[in-house]
Amino acid sequence: MATSVQTNYDDYIHEPNNNNLDHIPGDYGLPLLGHTLAFAKDPFTMVQKAQKQYGQLYRTCFGGSRGVIALGPDLVQQIMLDPGRDFSSKMGFMDRLTQFFEGSLIMEDFEHHRHQRRIMQTAFKNDSLKHYTNEINRIYDRALDEWTSQTGQTIPFFMNVKNLLLEVAAEIFIGETERGERVERLNKAFVDCVSGTMYIFPINLPGFTLHRGLQGKAYLKKFFSELVPQKREGDGLDMLSHFCREKDEEGNYFSDDEITNQTIFLLFAAHDTTTAAITHTIFYLARNPDVKQKLYEECKALGKDELGYEDLDAVPYMQQVFNEVQRIRPSVPLVPRRTIREVEMAGYRVPAHTMVFAFPRYTHWMDEYWTEPAKFDPDRFSPERAEHKQHPFLFHPFGGGAHKCIGMHFSQMEYKCFIYKFMLQYDFEAKHKKQDVYMQTFPLPKPSDDMPLVLSKR
Ligand code: HEM
Repeated sequence: MATSVQTNYDDYIHEPNNNNLDHIPGDYGLPLLGHTLAFAKDPFTMVQKAQKQYGQLYRTCFGGSRGVIALGPDLVQQIMLDPGRDFSSKMGFMDRLTQFFEGSLIMEDFEHHRHQRRIMQTAFKNDSLKHYTNEINRIYDRALDEWTSQTGQTIPFFMNVKNLLLEVAAEIFIGETERGERVERLNKAFVDCVSGTMYIFPINLPGFTLHRGLQGKAYLKKFFSELVPQKREGDGLDMLSHFCREKDEEGNYFSDDEITNQTIFLLFAAHDTTTAAITHTIFYLARNPDVKQKLYEECKALGKDELGYEDLDAVPYMQQVFNEVQRIRPSVPLVPRRTIREVEMAGYRVPAHTMVFAFPRYTHWMDEYWTEPAKFDPDRFSPERAEHKQHPFLFHPFGGGAHKCIGMHFSQMEYKCFIYKFMLQYDFEAKHKKQDVYMQTFPLPKPSDDMPLVLSKR
Protein backbone atom coordinates (compact mmCIF):
# COMPACT_ATOMS: atom_id res chain seq x y z
CA MET A 1 0.00 0.00 0.00
CA ALA A 2 1.30 3.49 -0.83
CA THR A 3 1.91 6.04 1.94
CA SER A 4 1.77 9.81 2.20
CA VAL A 5 3.48 12.22 4.58
CA GLN A 6 2.06 15.44 5.99
CA THR A 7 4.37 18.42 5.72
CA ASN A 8 4.11 22.09 6.52
CA TYR A 9 5.26 23.14 3.07
CA ASP A 10 2.25 25.43 2.97
CA ASP A 11 4.16 27.79 5.26
CA TYR A 12 6.59 28.73 2.50
CA ILE A 13 6.26 27.04 -0.87
CA HIS A 14 3.55 29.32 -2.23
CA GLU A 15 5.48 32.51 -1.44
CA PRO A 16 7.15 34.30 -4.40
CA ASN A 17 10.91 34.89 -4.34
CA ASN A 18 12.04 37.94 -2.41
CA ASN A 19 13.65 40.41 -4.80
CA ASN A 20 14.36 43.23 -2.39
CA LEU A 21 18.02 42.90 -1.55
CA ASP A 22 19.13 46.49 -1.99
CA HIS A 23 20.54 46.66 1.56
CA ILE A 24 23.13 43.97 0.66
CA PRO A 25 26.21 44.99 -1.37
CA GLY A 26 26.32 43.86 -4.99
CA ASP A 27 24.56 44.69 -8.25
CA TYR A 28 21.87 43.14 -10.41
CA GLY A 29 23.60 43.72 -13.77
CA LEU A 30 21.65 44.48 -16.94
CA PRO A 31 17.87 44.94 -16.94
CA LEU A 32 16.15 41.56 -17.51
CA LEU A 33 19.35 39.65 -18.30
CA GLY A 34 21.18 40.52 -15.09
CA HIS A 35 24.60 38.83 -15.10
CA THR A 36 23.36 35.71 -16.93
CA LEU A 37 25.70 35.87 -19.92
CA ALA A 38 28.89 36.58 -17.97
CA PHE A 39 27.93 33.99 -15.38
CA ALA A 40 27.28 31.32 -18.02
CA LYS A 41 30.59 32.06 -19.73
CA ASP A 42 32.99 32.31 -16.82
CA PRO A 43 31.25 32.17 -13.43
CA PHE A 44 34.48 31.73 -11.47
CA THR A 45 36.13 34.93 -12.69
CA MET A 46 32.87 36.79 -12.17
CA VAL A 47 32.41 35.51 -8.63
CA GLN A 48 36.03 36.21 -7.69
CA LYS A 49 35.76 39.76 -9.02
CA ALA A 50 32.49 40.41 -7.23
CA GLN A 51 33.83 38.98 -3.98
CA LYS A 52 36.79 41.40 -4.10
CA GLN A 53 34.40 44.30 -4.63
CA TYR A 54 31.52 43.33 -2.31
CA GLY A 55 32.67 40.63 0.13
CA GLN A 56 31.67 37.04 0.94
CA LEU A 57 27.95 37.70 0.60
CA TYR A 58 26.67 39.80 -2.27
CA ARG A 59 23.49 40.30 -4.23
CA THR A 60 23.25 39.48 -7.90
CA CYS A 61 20.86 38.41 -10.64
CA PHE A 62 21.25 35.63 -13.20
CA GLY A 63 19.03 33.13 -14.98
CA GLY A 64 16.03 35.31 -14.19
CA SER A 65 16.49 35.14 -10.40
CA ARG A 66 17.68 37.72 -7.96
CA GLY A 67 19.52 36.29 -4.98
CA VAL A 68 22.69 36.29 -2.95
CA ILE A 69 25.94 34.43 -3.57
CA ALA A 70 27.37 33.05 -0.33
CA LEU A 71 31.12 32.34 -0.37
CA GLY A 72 33.70 30.78 1.93
CA PRO A 73 33.57 27.77 4.25
CA ASP A 74 31.64 29.44 7.10
CA LEU A 75 28.68 30.43 4.93
CA VAL A 76 28.72 27.07 3.13
CA GLN A 77 28.57 25.36 6.52
CA GLN A 78 25.66 27.57 7.61
CA ILE A 79 23.70 26.70 4.46
CA MET A 80 24.47 23.00 4.35
CA LEU A 81 24.28 22.03 8.01
CA ASP A 82 21.34 24.37 8.46
CA PRO A 83 20.78 23.80 12.19
CA GLY A 84 17.93 26.35 12.27
CA ARG A 85 16.08 24.81 9.30
CA ASP A 86 16.35 28.15 7.54
CA PHE A 87 17.12 26.95 4.00
CA SER A 88 14.86 25.08 1.60
CA SER A 89 16.42 22.87 -1.04
CA LYS A 90 12.98 22.29 -2.59
CA MET A 91 12.55 26.01 -3.25
CA GLY A 92 16.19 26.42 -4.33
CA PHE A 93 15.58 24.02 -7.21
CA MET A 94 12.04 25.23 -7.94
CA ASP A 95 11.05 26.73 -11.33
CA ARG A 96 13.56 25.30 -13.79
CA LEU A 97 13.68 21.80 -12.34
CA THR A 98 10.13 21.47 -11.00
CA GLN A 99 8.69 19.87 -14.11
CA PHE A 100 11.50 17.35 -14.24
CA PHE A 101 12.31 16.49 -10.67
CA GLU A 102 9.44 17.45 -8.40
CA GLY A 103 9.18 14.95 -5.55
CA SER A 104 12.81 13.81 -5.91
CA LEU A 105 15.19 13.90 -2.93
CA ILE A 106 16.74 17.24 -3.80
CA MET A 107 13.26 18.78 -4.08
CA GLU A 108 12.10 17.76 -0.62
CA ASP A 109 12.86 19.33 2.75
CA PHE A 110 13.22 18.09 6.33
CA GLU A 111 10.88 15.22 7.42
CA HIS A 112 9.58 14.63 3.95
CA HIS A 113 13.12 14.46 2.61
CA ARG A 114 14.18 12.06 5.38
CA HIS A 115 11.19 9.85 4.61
CA GLN A 116 12.01 9.75 0.89
CA ARG A 117 15.71 9.06 1.50
CA ARG A 118 14.67 5.72 3.05
CA ILE A 119 13.78 4.50 -0.45
CA MET A 120 17.50 4.40 -1.21
CA GLN A 121 18.89 2.95 2.00
CA THR A 122 19.43 -0.69 0.93
CA ALA A 123 20.63 0.27 -2.54
CA PHE A 124 23.64 2.08 -1.04
CA LYS A 125 24.64 -0.39 1.68
CA ASN A 126 28.02 -2.18 1.56
CA ASP A 127 26.66 -5.45 0.20
CA SER A 128 24.95 -3.65 -2.65
CA LEU A 129 28.06 -1.60 -3.43
CA LYS A 130 30.12 -4.78 -3.48
CA HIS A 131 27.77 -6.33 -6.01
CA TYR A 132 27.81 -3.18 -8.20
CA THR A 133 31.63 -3.16 -8.11
CA ASN A 134 31.79 -6.64 -9.65
CA GLU A 135 29.20 -5.78 -12.28
CA ILE A 136 30.84 -2.47 -13.17
CA ASN A 137 34.22 -4.14 -13.67
CA ARG A 138 32.56 -6.55 -16.10
CA ILE A 139 31.01 -3.65 -18.06
CA TYR A 140 34.35 -1.81 -18.15
CA ASP A 141 36.14 -4.91 -19.45
CA ARG A 142 33.70 -5.13 -22.32
CA ALA A 143 33.95 -1.42 -23.17
CA LEU A 144 37.71 -1.06 -22.83
CA ASP A 145 38.20 -4.07 -25.10
CA GLU A 146 35.97 -2.38 -27.66
CA TRP A 147 38.02 0.82 -27.40
CA THR A 148 41.05 -1.13 -28.68
CA SER A 149 39.68 -0.71 -32.20
CA GLN A 150 39.97 3.07 -31.72
CA THR A 151 43.66 3.16 -30.73
CA GLY A 152 45.70 5.53 -32.85
CA GLN A 153 42.64 7.62 -33.76
CA THR A 154 41.53 10.82 -32.05
CA ILE A 155 38.45 10.03 -29.95
CA PRO A 156 36.11 12.47 -28.18
CA PHE A 157 36.91 11.02 -24.77
CA PHE A 158 34.05 12.81 -23.00
CA MET A 159 31.47 11.20 -25.31
CA ASN A 160 33.04 7.76 -24.90
CA VAL A 161 32.81 8.05 -21.11
CA LYS A 162 29.30 9.49 -21.26
CA ASN A 163 28.12 6.49 -23.31
CA LEU A 164 29.95 4.03 -21.11
CA LEU A 165 28.36 5.43 -17.96
CA LEU A 166 24.95 5.25 -19.66
CA GLU A 167 25.57 1.52 -20.05
CA VAL A 168 26.48 1.35 -16.37
CA ALA A 169 23.29 3.22 -15.45
CA ALA A 170 21.06 0.93 -17.56
CA GLU A 171 22.51 -2.21 -15.99
CA ILE A 172 23.30 -1.23 -12.43
CA PHE A 173 20.52 1.26 -11.76
CA ILE A 174 17.70 -0.31 -13.78
CA GLY A 175 18.78 -3.91 -14.34
CA GLU A 176 18.64 -3.71 -18.17
CA THR A 177 21.47 -6.07 -19.05
CA GLU A 178 20.73 -6.63 -22.73
CA ARG A 179 22.15 -4.00 -25.08
CA GLY A 180 19.85 -3.16 -28.00
CA GLU A 181 16.98 -0.98 -29.12
CA ARG A 182 15.18 -0.97 -25.77
CA VAL A 183 18.21 0.38 -23.90
CA GLU A 184 19.04 2.81 -26.71
CA ARG A 185 15.52 4.24 -26.47
CA LEU A 186 15.85 4.45 -22.68
CA ASN A 187 19.19 6.26 -22.97
CA LYS A 188 17.81 8.68 -25.53
CA ALA A 189 14.89 9.53 -23.24
CA PHE A 190 17.34 10.14 -20.41
CA VAL A 191 19.63 12.35 -22.51
CA ASP A 192 16.59 14.34 -23.76
CA CYS A 193 15.34 14.74 -20.21
CA VAL A 194 18.71 16.06 -19.00
CA SER A 195 19.11 18.49 -21.90
CA GLY A 196 15.50 19.55 -21.36
CA THR A 197 16.45 20.99 -17.95
CA MET A 198 18.79 23.43 -19.78
CA TYR A 199 16.04 24.95 -21.93
CA ILE A 200 16.39 28.60 -22.92
CA PHE A 201 12.79 29.18 -24.06
CA PRO A 202 10.18 27.98 -21.57
CA ILE A 203 7.98 26.75 -24.43
CA ASN A 204 6.46 23.30 -24.33
CA LEU A 205 5.83 22.86 -28.07
CA PRO A 206 7.34 20.42 -30.60
CA GLY A 207 10.79 21.54 -31.74
CA PHE A 208 11.67 23.16 -28.40
CA THR A 209 14.21 21.72 -25.94
CA LEU A 210 11.76 21.88 -23.05
CA HIS A 211 9.21 19.83 -24.99
CA ARG A 212 11.75 17.17 -25.91
CA GLY A 213 12.92 17.07 -22.31
CA LEU A 214 9.41 16.61 -20.94
CA GLN A 215 8.69 13.89 -23.47
CA GLY A 216 11.89 12.14 -22.37
CA LYS A 217 10.78 12.42 -18.76
CA ALA A 218 7.32 11.01 -19.58
CA TYR A 219 8.96 8.07 -21.35
CA LEU A 220 11.21 7.35 -18.35
CA LYS A 221 8.29 7.60 -15.97
CA LYS A 222 6.23 5.09 -17.97
CA PHE A 223 9.21 2.78 -18.47
CA PHE A 224 10.02 2.66 -14.75
CA SER A 225 6.42 2.40 -13.51
CA GLU A 226 5.80 -0.59 -15.77
CA LEU A 227 8.75 -2.31 -14.11
CA VAL A 228 7.66 -1.69 -10.50
CA PRO A 229 5.32 -4.71 -9.97
CA GLN A 230 7.79 -7.28 -11.31
CA LYS A 231 10.75 -5.72 -9.51
CA ARG A 232 8.81 -5.69 -6.24
CA GLU A 233 8.13 -9.41 -6.54
CA GLY A 234 11.58 -10.31 -7.91
CA ASP A 235 14.99 -10.65 -6.27
CA GLY A 236 16.92 -8.28 -8.58
CA LEU A 237 20.01 -6.56 -7.21
CA ASP A 238 19.82 -3.43 -9.38
CA MET A 239 19.05 -0.14 -7.63
CA LEU A 240 15.48 0.12 -8.94
CA SER A 241 14.70 -3.34 -7.55
CA HIS A 242 15.94 -2.22 -4.14
CA PHE A 243 13.77 0.91 -4.29
CA CYS A 244 10.71 -1.16 -5.24
CA ARG A 245 11.16 -3.55 -2.31
CA GLU A 246 11.98 -0.84 0.26
CA LYS A 247 9.37 -0.09 2.91
CA ASP A 248 8.67 3.06 4.91
CA GLU A 249 8.62 3.46 8.72
CA GLU A 250 5.16 1.89 8.86
CA GLY A 251 6.11 -1.12 6.78
CA ASN A 252 4.40 0.04 3.56
CA TYR A 253 5.92 0.03 0.10
CA PHE A 254 6.66 3.41 -1.45
CA SER A 255 4.24 4.37 -4.22
CA ASP A 256 5.04 3.92 -7.92
CA ASP A 257 5.12 7.69 -8.24
CA GLU A 258 7.66 8.11 -5.44
CA ILE A 259 9.87 5.36 -6.85
CA THR A 260 9.86 6.69 -10.40
CA ASN A 261 10.51 10.29 -9.27
CA GLN A 262 13.50 9.22 -7.19
CA THR A 263 14.89 7.01 -9.96
CA ILE A 264 14.73 9.70 -12.64
CA PHE A 265 16.56 12.17 -10.41
CA LEU A 266 19.08 9.55 -9.34
CA LEU A 267 20.09 8.97 -12.96
CA PHE A 268 20.45 12.71 -13.43
CA ALA A 269 22.49 13.18 -10.22
CA ALA A 270 24.78 10.25 -10.97
CA HIS A 271 25.59 10.50 -14.63
CA ASP A 272 27.06 13.84 -15.66
CA THR A 273 28.81 14.33 -12.31
CA THR A 274 30.88 11.16 -12.63
CA THR A 275 31.41 11.68 -16.38
CA ALA A 276 32.83 15.14 -15.58
CA ALA A 277 35.09 13.74 -12.85
CA ILE A 278 36.61 11.12 -15.18
CA THR A 279 36.98 13.54 -18.12
CA HIS A 280 38.65 16.21 -16.00
CA THR A 281 41.01 13.59 -14.55
CA ILE A 282 42.22 12.61 -18.00
CA PHE A 283 42.52 16.30 -18.92
CA TYR A 284 44.82 17.00 -15.97
CA LEU A 285 46.77 13.74 -16.23
CA ALA A 286 47.54 14.50 -19.87
CA ARG A 287 48.97 17.87 -18.79
CA ASN A 288 50.85 16.55 -15.78
CA PRO A 289 52.99 13.57 -16.89
CA ASP A 290 54.59 13.19 -13.45
CA VAL A 291 51.17 12.74 -11.80
CA LYS A 292 50.10 10.37 -14.57
CA GLN A 293 53.24 8.25 -14.09
CA LYS A 294 52.86 8.16 -10.31
CA LEU A 295 49.24 7.05 -10.64
CA TYR A 296 50.15 4.41 -13.22
CA GLU A 297 52.83 3.05 -10.91
CA GLU A 298 50.39 2.87 -8.01
CA CYS A 299 47.95 0.88 -10.16
CA LYS A 300 50.64 -1.45 -11.44
CA ALA A 301 52.07 -2.05 -7.97
CA LEU A 302 48.74 -3.43 -6.78
CA GLY A 303 49.25 -6.29 -9.19
CA LYS A 304 45.58 -7.00 -9.93
CA ASP A 305 43.51 -6.89 -13.12
CA GLU A 306 40.83 -4.86 -11.46
CA LEU A 307 39.93 -3.07 -8.24
CA GLY A 308 37.60 -5.11 -6.10
CA TYR A 309 35.36 -3.50 -3.50
CA GLU A 310 37.92 -4.37 -0.80
CA ASP A 311 40.70 -2.64 -2.82
CA LEU A 312 39.10 0.78 -3.03
CA ASP A 313 41.24 2.14 -0.20
CA ALA A 314 44.39 0.51 -1.57
CA VAL A 315 44.96 3.31 -4.09
CA PRO A 316 45.48 6.38 -1.86
CA TYR A 317 47.18 8.41 -4.59
CA MET A 318 44.17 7.86 -6.87
CA GLN A 319 41.99 9.20 -4.06
CA GLN A 320 44.20 12.32 -3.91
CA VAL A 321 43.86 12.74 -7.68
CA PHE A 322 40.07 12.40 -7.43
CA ASN A 323 39.96 14.98 -4.64
CA GLU A 324 42.19 17.39 -6.55
CA VAL A 325 39.98 17.09 -9.64
CA GLN A 326 36.90 17.84 -7.54
CA ARG A 327 38.63 20.74 -5.86
CA ILE A 328 39.80 22.38 -9.05
CA ARG A 329 36.70 21.58 -11.19
CA PRO A 330 33.82 20.52 -8.92
CA SER A 331 31.28 18.36 -10.77
CA VAL A 332 28.44 20.29 -9.09
CA PRO A 333 29.19 23.95 -9.77
CA LEU A 334 26.30 25.61 -7.92
CA VAL A 335 24.22 24.68 -4.87
CA PRO A 336 20.95 26.64 -4.67
CA ARG A 337 18.71 27.12 -1.65
CA ARG A 338 15.93 29.55 -0.67
CA THR A 339 15.55 31.05 2.78
CA ILE A 340 12.43 30.02 4.66
CA ARG A 341 12.62 32.90 7.12
CA GLU A 342 14.85 35.92 7.70
CA VAL A 343 18.42 34.77 8.39
CA GLU A 344 21.62 36.55 9.35
CA MET A 345 24.50 35.77 7.01
CA ALA A 346 27.94 37.41 7.17
CA GLY A 347 26.42 40.20 9.25
CA TYR A 348 23.59 40.96 6.77
CA ARG A 349 19.87 40.39 7.17
CA VAL A 350 18.78 38.08 4.36
CA PRO A 351 14.97 38.24 4.11
CA ALA A 352 12.67 35.22 3.91
CA HIS A 353 12.20 33.60 0.46
CA THR A 354 15.56 34.85 -0.89
CA MET A 355 17.50 32.65 -3.31
CA VAL A 356 20.95 31.80 -1.90
CA PHE A 357 23.68 30.20 -4.03
CA ALA A 358 26.83 28.47 -2.81
CA PHE A 359 29.57 28.27 -5.43
CA PRO A 360 31.97 25.47 -4.38
CA ARG A 361 34.82 26.36 -6.72
CA TYR A 362 35.34 29.71 -5.01
CA THR A 363 35.90 28.04 -1.63
CA HIS A 364 38.00 25.32 -3.26
CA TRP A 365 40.34 28.00 -4.67
CA MET A 366 40.65 30.42 -1.71
CA ASP A 367 44.30 31.38 -1.46
CA GLU A 368 43.92 32.00 2.27
CA TYR A 369 43.78 28.21 2.61
CA TRP A 370 45.15 26.50 -0.49
CA THR A 371 48.77 26.69 -1.73
CA GLU A 372 48.81 27.94 -5.34
CA PRO A 373 45.11 27.07 -5.85
CA ALA A 374 45.28 27.21 -9.67
CA LYS A 375 47.94 24.49 -9.71
CA PHE A 376 46.88 20.85 -10.19
CA ASP A 377 48.61 19.32 -7.19
CA PRO A 378 47.13 16.07 -5.77
CA ASP A 379 49.75 16.06 -3.00
CA ARG A 380 47.90 18.86 -1.24
CA PHE A 381 45.56 16.06 -0.09
CA SER A 382 48.42 13.87 1.22
CA PRO A 383 48.34 13.02 4.95
CA GLU A 384 51.39 15.30 5.47
CA ARG A 385 49.84 18.38 3.86
CA ALA A 386 46.09 17.74 4.21
CA GLU A 387 45.21 21.31 3.19
CA HIS A 388 41.52 20.41 3.07
CA LYS A 389 41.40 19.70 6.80
CA GLN A 390 41.68 23.35 7.85
CA HIS A 391 37.89 23.75 7.94
CA PRO A 392 35.10 21.13 7.72
CA PHE A 393 33.54 22.95 4.74
CA LEU A 394 36.67 24.04 2.89
CA PHE A 395 36.34 21.07 0.53
CA HIS A 396 32.76 20.01 -0.14
CA PRO A 397 32.40 18.38 -3.58
CA PHE A 398 29.61 16.13 -2.27
CA GLY A 399 27.81 18.84 -0.31
CA GLY A 400 27.03 18.30 3.37
CA GLY A 401 24.23 18.01 5.90
CA ALA A 402 20.89 16.36 5.12
CA HIS A 403 21.29 16.55 1.32
CA LYS A 404 24.86 15.25 1.24
CA CYS A 405 25.34 13.12 -1.87
CA ILE A 406 23.94 9.64 -1.31
CA GLY A 407 26.06 8.37 -4.20
CA MET A 408 29.37 9.59 -2.73
CA HIS A 409 30.84 6.10 -2.23
CA PHE A 410 29.25 4.69 -5.35
CA SER A 411 30.65 7.43 -7.57
CA GLN A 412 34.18 7.04 -6.20
CA MET A 413 33.98 3.28 -6.75
CA GLU A 414 32.72 3.85 -10.31
CA TYR A 415 35.53 6.36 -10.87
CA LYS A 416 38.35 4.30 -9.33
CA CYS A 417 37.42 1.04 -11.10
CA PHE A 418 37.45 2.90 -14.41
CA ILE A 419 40.69 4.83 -13.89
CA TYR A 420 42.44 1.69 -12.64
CA LYS A 421 41.57 -0.44 -15.66
CA PHE A 422 42.05 2.42 -18.10
CA MET A 423 45.51 3.33 -16.78
CA LEU A 424 46.69 -0.28 -16.91
CA GLN A 425 45.35 -0.87 -20.40
CA TYR A 426 46.04 2.39 -22.22
CA ASP A 427 48.49 5.22 -22.44
CA PHE A 428 47.06 8.43 -23.87
CA GLU A 429 47.86 11.83 -25.29
CA ALA A 430 45.60 14.87 -25.47
CA LYS A 431 45.01 16.34 -28.92
CA HIS A 432 43.45 19.72 -28.16
CA LYS A 433 43.35 22.03 -31.16
CA LYS A 434 44.08 24.94 -28.84
CA GLN A 435 46.42 24.68 -25.88
CA ASP A 436 44.24 27.14 -24.00
CA VAL A 437 41.07 25.01 -23.92
CA TYR A 438 37.87 26.71 -22.81
CA MET A 439 36.71 24.86 -19.71
CA GLN A 440 32.97 25.27 -19.56
CA THR A 441 31.03 25.21 -16.28
CA PHE A 442 27.46 25.22 -17.57
CA PRO A 443 25.41 23.31 -18.57
CA LEU A 444 27.95 20.87 -17.18
CA PRO A 445 31.61 21.20 -16.35
CA LYS A 446 33.91 19.80 -19.07
CA PRO A 447 36.56 20.84 -21.59
CA SER A 448 34.47 22.44 -24.35
CA ASP A 449 36.21 20.38 -27.07
CA ASP A 450 35.06 17.08 -25.48
CA MET A 451 38.65 16.12 -24.61
CA PRO A 452 40.12 14.75 -27.86
CA LEU A 453 42.44 11.89 -26.96
CA VAL A 454 44.64 9.40 -28.75
CA LEU A 455 44.90 6.03 -27.01
CA SER A 456 47.77 3.56 -27.32
CA LYS A 457 47.84 0.08 -25.82
CA ARG A 458 50.21 -0.40 -22.86
C1 HEM B 1 31.63 12.87 -8.78
C2 HEM B 1 30.40 12.50 -8.61
C3 HEM B 1 29.38 13.23 -7.80
C4 HEM B 1 29.43 14.45 -7.20
C5 HEM B 1 30.58 15.43 -7.18
C6 HEM B 1 28.16 14.67 -6.56
C7 HEM B 1 27.83 15.80 -5.82
C8 HEM B 1 26.63 15.99 -5.17
C9 HEM B 1 26.30 17.15 -4.40
C10 HEM B 1 27.17 18.39 -4.21
C11 HEM B 1 25.05 16.97 -3.91
C12 HEM B 1 24.29 17.92 -2.99
C13 HEM B 1 23.53 18.95 -3.79
C14 HEM B 1 22.82 19.93 -2.90
O1 HEM B 1 22.98 19.91 -1.67
O2 HEM B 1 22.09 20.75 -3.46
C15 HEM B 1 24.59 15.68 -4.37
C16 HEM B 1 23.35 15.16 -4.09
C17 HEM B 1 22.91 13.94 -4.57
N1 HEM B 1 23.63 13.03 -5.29
FE1 HEM B 1 25.52 13.22 -5.93
N2 HEM B 1 27.37 13.58 -6.77
C18 HEM B 1 28.07 12.67 -7.52
C19 HEM B 1 27.63 11.43 -7.95
C20 HEM B 1 26.43 10.85 -7.59
C21 HEM B 1 26.06 9.50 -7.91
C22 HEM B 1 26.92 8.49 -8.67
C23 HEM B 1 24.79 9.31 -7.40
C24 HEM B 1 23.93 8.09 -7.42
C25 HEM B 1 24.35 6.88 -7.65
C26 HEM B 1 24.38 10.57 -6.79
C27 HEM B 1 23.17 10.78 -6.19
C28 HEM B 1 22.83 11.94 -5.54
C29 HEM B 1 21.52 12.16 -4.94
C30 HEM B 1 20.33 11.21 -5.00
C31 HEM B 1 21.57 13.42 -4.34
C32 HEM B 1 20.46 14.12 -3.58
C33 HEM B 1 20.62 13.78 -2.11
C34 HEM B 1 19.58 14.41 -1.23
O3 HEM B 1 19.01 15.44 -1.62
O4 HEM B 1 19.35 13.87 -0.16
N3 HEM B 1 25.41 11.46 -6.90
N4 HEM B 1 25.58 15.09 -5.14
